[in-house]
Amino acid sequence: MQSMPPMPPRIVFFAASLLGLFAMLPFAVIAWARSAPSPSRPIHIVQDMDFQPRFNTQAVNPLFGDDRAMRPKIAGVVAVNGGSGSSHLEQGVVDGQWATTLPSGIPMDMSTLEHGRTRFNIFCTACHGYAGYGDGIVNERALDLMGNADGPVYGTAWVQAKSVHDPTVRDQPIGQIYNTITHGIRNMAGYAAQIPTEDRWAIASYVKALQRSQDATLQDVPPEHRESLKQ
Ligand code: HEC
Repeated sequence: MQSMPPMPPRIVFFAASLLGLFAMLPFAVIAWARSAPSPSRPIHIVQDMDFQPRFNTQAVNPLFGDDRAMRPKIAGVVAVNGGSGSSHLEQGVVDGQWATTLPSGIPMDMSTLEHGRTRFNIFCTACHGYAGYGDGIVNERALDLMGNADGPVYGTAWVQAKSVHDPTVRDQPIGQIYNTITHGIRNMAGYAAQIPTEDRWAIASYVKALQRSQDATLQDVPPEHRESLKQ
């Protein structure tokens, strides 16, 4: 009868499994560190230019006599593209009221209106439609998507571009239309970055013309053309 080879003492098994467990510890820590959110910055070995000395808002900077890191504007300095300083041209406001006329230098004539039409057709019709009723191609597509969706549209809501013939918009002075184009309104973004000031005024005057085209009386037509419209 063959005898069994002697077994190693139990303590060896115990020590080996403990060692195996400890060997896994670094990997577990790394996996945890990679997945758990942490408020502190990651360890940054290559700094490049990631952290540069700077002053926070309202911080103290003894370099200046008044100890302020934020420097006030120097009196009388105008930025290179800093605008004219005219509130009529820049904001569409005259004496605290929305302007009812174009600013000086932009004539209300056919060439301004034609220019406004091309800009309107480029920048606005996608949402507002060519006649300004808010029925542009983006609206059609949005309604299509909302209509085709099975069940709720994941909390999405569609705000249609407002009709410029809505009484609340139709009665707005040209300065207010200009201001909407410049700064946007509610869900509509501003276009100051894409459309130069003069072009925004041209668009505003075209919007006024569009509104007039849908809400005119015979008295708005020059007398010599009235007869042909009467029948
Ligand atoms: C991306 C779509 C989109 C484009 C492009 C767009 N608009 Fe709008 N516009 C809207 C929406 C949406 C509203 C309504 C916003 C709301 O009620 O939240 C609106 C509202 C308006 C209003 C009504 C403001 C008021 O007082 O209620 C005017 C006027 C207007 N837009 C003019 C323009 C002009 C002019 C352009 C082109 C320069 C333009 N929009 C481009 C989406 C657009």
